[in-house]
Amino acid sequence: MKFFVDTADTAEIREIANLGLADGVTTNPSLIAKSGRPYAEVLREICDIVDGPISAEVVATEAPAMLEEGEKLAKIHRNIVVKCPLTLEGLKATRALSNRGIRVNVTLIFSPLQALAAAKCGASFLSPFVGRLDDIGHEGMLPIDQIVRIMDNYDYPAKVLVASIRSPLHLLRAAEAGADIATLPPDVIKQILRHPLTDAGLEKFLSDWRQTKQKI
Ligand code: G3P
Repeated sequence: MKFFVDTADTAEIREIANLGLADGVTTNPSLIAKSGRPYAEVLREICDIVDGPISAEVVATEAPAMLEEGEKLAKIHRNIVVKCPLTLEGLKATRALSNRGIRVNVTLIFSPLQALAAAKCGASFLSPFVGRLDDIGHEGMLPIDQIVRIMDNYDYPAKVLVASIRSPLHLLRAAEAGADIATLPPDVIKQILRHPLTDAGLEKFLSDWRQTKQKI
């Protein structure tokens, strides 16, 4: 399973990349706004930090303008993947961009049939959102299981990139489902590394070692 980092905070990305846990990065307009930095500048810095797919979302809502924005974003760096929302216009842009050899990550997917349509339209990555379904009382992981099963039935090149992950449990269920990629907020990546028994075990080791009065 690949881990992408879901943020536009380059300091956070650098920290995770230095651990060797950043196979790519996803951004979205909200994350870019939160960074407070010019879009192209932050994308270029992210591309310098992580040598993997870097998702950058269009903000136009009609296909021709999405195509124009997508081509501009793709020119920033060879690793840029253009993000388009799962709307009719977004799928038209997905088809046009993929026909031009530009990879597309179709985002804001909430159902298996939306994912199937995106795969048929040439998407390279499918981003089904988990947390936002949980937030409204739906079973956020159910579509993930369905999408992975559907994709396994056919030979579409699209990779299942589980997004809107709020907890380590979401990551665990996504991995159990066989998703290709999970895009993770930096805090979730750090959360999966922590366990109270690890902390307690290390303290016991060090306490016992201190009794030996030795140095390595
Ligand atoms: O970046 C796409 C997705 O991961 C956003 O997640 O937490 O805003 O629902 P969230």
